[in-house]
Amino acid sequence: MAKISNYDMFDYDYSTYWKKREYENLAEKHLLNKMLDSEKGFWFLDIGGSYGRLTSTYYDKYSHPVIVDYSLKTLQKNREILLNKYKNLEIIAANAYKLPFKANSIDAGLMVRVLHHIEKPEEYFKEISRVISNDGIYIQEYANKMHIKAVLRSIFKLNFDFFDTKPYKQPTHHNNEGVKEGVEGIFFNFHPQYIEKNLEKVGFTIENKIGCSFLRSQFLKKIFNPDLLLFFEKILQITLSWSNISPSIFLKTKHTTKTNEEPKMYESLEDILACPKCKKDLKFDTSESAHCKACHSKYTKENGVWDFRVE
Ligand SMILES: C[S@@+](CC[C@H](N)C(=O)[O-])C[C@H]1O[C@@H](n2cnc3c(N)ncnc32)[C@H](O)[C@@H]1O
Ligand SMILES: [Zn+2]
Repeated sequence: MAKISNYDMFDYDYSTYWKKREYENLAEKHLLNKMLDSEKGFWFLDIGGSYGRLTSTYYDKYSHPVIVDYSLKTLQKNREILLNKYKNLEIIAANAYKLPFKANSIDAGLMVRVLHHIEKPEEYFKEISRVISNDGIYIQEYANKMHIKAVLRSIFKLNFDFFDTKPYKQPTHHNNEGVKEGVEGIFFNFHPQYIEKNLEKVGFTIENKIGCSFLRSQFLKKIFNPDLLLFFEKILQITLSWSNISPSIFLKTKHTTKTNEEPKMYESLEDILACPKCKKDLKFDTSESAHCKACHSKYTKENGVWDFRVE
């Protein structure tokens, strides 16, 4: 069983992470707005969507957006603010490896800044491929093992093993995103070939690749304001995305090899939900409780948020 990066264990408030990262925030939203520009549809999943930092990039394009995150506390804390701003948004606590949705029920989705917490990407990719429908769009961001600073560092240290395509586990030292200082977290950087190969294996065709946060440097962030950095970032996203030098990479993919099943229209959240353990249908006992018709597992809504977390 894959270990989970459980932000609730240490009451980690992820929104604090963004206080000093306005340039990266603007760069990612600019990129997503571009990738989603001409898209539209019904059900959209933001996997590991947390407090909805990126919701503005897909909310107007998909009529039924859903934030899915393992941190029940983050979702409960932000629920009211999110629903005031985005009234059609659904918010669900669940594990990305075990999604509580029916097969082929989702039109599109994204995962940004979460894959570094996923120690078994192949397992997760199978699961996201199960729920995304034929021709559905899926955007995968990942922390790039081959970014320019890491490559130069490895050459300097004559560490040529670094260049293989295996995931690189980052030392936790000074990286306490989701954990406490001194506690070992799950942080992986990935080789572009590894991610592309594994997405293709489960039926996603890569349509577009864009590098992001080319100018992530404490020095540059100290001397230039975020808007100026964004101006140059936009140029670099266009001119240097063929290379693998950026610390973060976004892939826009399309789900192209799937079943011959006819697409179904699902109107309400209850229609797309399924048991995250056995994937069979649920019976809704009340508006705040459900059980699986096959394995009898029980699920409840806690303070307005469905809790479908299973390991
Ligand atoms: C670094 S935050 C990124 C949040 C958001 N995507 C963003 O870019 O602002 C990582 C999020 O992934 C969630 N997460 C980590 N592992 C998960 C898993 N196995 N299933 C669902 N969510 C997970 C965490 O709870 C956290 O909210
Ligand atoms: Zn079940």
